[in-house]
Amino acid sequence: MITLHDIPALRAQLADWRRTGQRIGLVPTMGNLHAGHIALVRAALSRANRVVTTVFVNPLQFGPGEDLDAYPRTLAEDARRLKEAGNHCLFVPAESELYPRGRDGHTCVEVPGLSAELCGASRPGHFRGVTTVVAKLFNVVQPDVAVFGQKDYQQLMLIRRMAADLDCPVEVVGEPTVREPDGLAMSSRNGYLTADERARAPALHRVLVEAAEAIGAGRELARTEQRAMAALAEAGMRPDYLSVRRQSDLGHPGPRDGALVILAAAHLGRARLIDNLECSRPTGP
Ligand code: PAJ
Repeated sequence: MITLHDIPALRAQLADWRRTGQRIGLVPTMGNLHAGHIALVRAALSRANRVVTTVFVNPLQFGPGEDLDAYPRTLAEDARRLKEAGNHCLFVPAESELYPRGRDGHTCVEVPGLSAELCGASRPGHFRGVTTVVAKLFNVVQPDVAVFGQKDYQQLMLIRRMAADLDCPVEVVGEPTVREPDGLAMSSRNGYLTADERARAPALHRVLVEAAEAIGAGRELARTEQRAMAALAEAGMRPDYLSVRRQSDLGHPGPRDGALVILAAAHLGRARLIDNLECSRPTGP
């Protein structure tokens, strides 16, 4: 595996690969890699001959008072895991490489509407930072395929929208959420949890499973949302939102929409956990 830090060196390597007809896969990450990230690398390896994984803690997607400085940085261990997984190139740009003009004043890419809902409502500007850096990585790497996790369901939807709206010639692939044995979705932010909080954390997934069952049984959506929010609070979390949406575009479901997804975010100690679960409900004839 080669590790590169600057765009010209990466472009030279990619040009070499393209000359020999290699299909390029991209896996953007912020590092502190866990089995969820590695599953994305494996998925990329199954769809491309050469895989570039990026590790960049993108300052543009962190709001004031969020955990930019505290975000875990474990590059040596990340590199070891990526090499073991068969990743070909690790791209680790410095902030000045991607934002030479600084954080303010940089051209941004923003998907209207959905960027301001759900996680975007409590994290203003977050998704603008995400779509901006992902658009840059698409332009730098020009991958044939890029792989993202369904754990960040809204992020995946926004990246698909961005790629479609800007005619990015890339196939965007979503991979299932990798979970701990007790159901907790793997996340770099799980490391913020104390032992007591870690023991409570699986309640988030449990509540989603129960809500999905209730919806499958035909229970009313608004009532199910209220109950699930209450259940999160009872489990010792501070729920941010829990919302049942349409799978196709994360819009509010109408009576005929049967393919749904429940998305939730909740604070637990220092951590803000997010999770989601697809579900379906009986729709009329
Ligand atoms: P990060 O949180 O490091 O996640 C990188 C990728 O791993 C994302 O596509 C995310 O959805 C996926 N992922 C995280 N946890 C996962 C899990 N338990 N199972 C499956 N996939 C999982 O998401 C970001 O970084 C950033 O916003 C980024 C897209 C890199 C832009 O900066």
